[in-house]
Amino acid sequence: MSAKVLDGKRIALQIRSEIAERVLAFRERKGVAPCLAAILVGDDPASQVYVRNKEIACSKAGMDSKLFRLPAATNTEDLLKLLETLNADTTIHGILVQLPLPSHIDQRRVLDAVSPEKDVDAFAPENVGLISQGRPRYLPCTPHGVLQLLHRCGIPLSGVEVVVVGRSDIVGKPLVSMCLQKEGPGGASNANATVTCCHSQTRNLGEVTRRADVLIAAMGRAGAITADMVKPGAVVIDVGINREGDRLVGDVDFDAVSQVASAITPVPGGIGPLTIAMLLENTLVAAEFATNARRS
Ligand code: GUN
Repeated sequence: MSAKVLDGKRIALQIRSEIAERVLAFRERKGVAPCLAAILVGDDPASQVYVRNKEIACSKAGMDSKLFRLPAATNTEDLLKLLETLNADTTIHGILVQLPLPSHIDQRRVLDAVSPEKDVDAFAPENVGLISQGRPRYLPCTPHGVLQLLHRCGIPLSGVEVVVVGRSDIVGKPLVSMCLQKEGPGGASNANATVTCCHSQTRNLGEVTRRADVLIAAMGRAGAITADMVKPGAVVIDVGINREGDRLVGDVDFDAVSQVASAITPVPGGIGPLTIAMLLENTLVAAEFATNARRS
């Protein structure tokens, strides 16, 4: 079998063009553009690329963005002060603190200081709680990208065995929570899964992953999902982005797994582009919340 390659780049462009139309209507209605503030601390090369791509995507969608580029020596208190200013600034609708932060910074305190109304990453405890209760304010960008891709490729989740490998706060845990809900972003068929979450302490990992109809790899280890860990005909979603020299590779051994799976996302060009598209969606939603709250 040779798996169908699910083109995340094409779907992301389609979503971005839908968002651009909504942004245009928003600007005509409200007289302002949605605005994202991104904070980048230090000079991690990958983070610089991600933040630059987010700025370009905002601009192409007709949104404003403000980048706060801070030196690596910035301390927790400096960041908390900046966040206080951005939280109070009514011209800024969404705030994103690019991770990882340098290790001397108290990441938990910093993320907790982002106003939940402007928390377009959906990292705030209040927003995590709302997702878990099935009444999200924002959906976290990468998990939302995964569900949009499945929905738009006509791959239902209802009643399906989903196995998520990885339990990060950014991807694994929110994905588990979202797949379990009664409604997904694409309706009831885009949720209602039977979900298993695997992690570094899981015994017989391959035995568990082989149960999956939809296998989602998000552990951050290059090529960790091998062909023998995949049920023939399964859909395999690769969320990993690992650097091997100057090449980007996923968590899935793409060539070998393609011979077993029925559909698979590539790296790059799979889930990555969708993450940015869903950030734009959240920034627009944040601007809608803010301007409706002010009745302007
Ligand atoms: N670093 C890697 N992924 C993410 C993400 O989704 N949000 C933020 N803020 N930083 C990241």
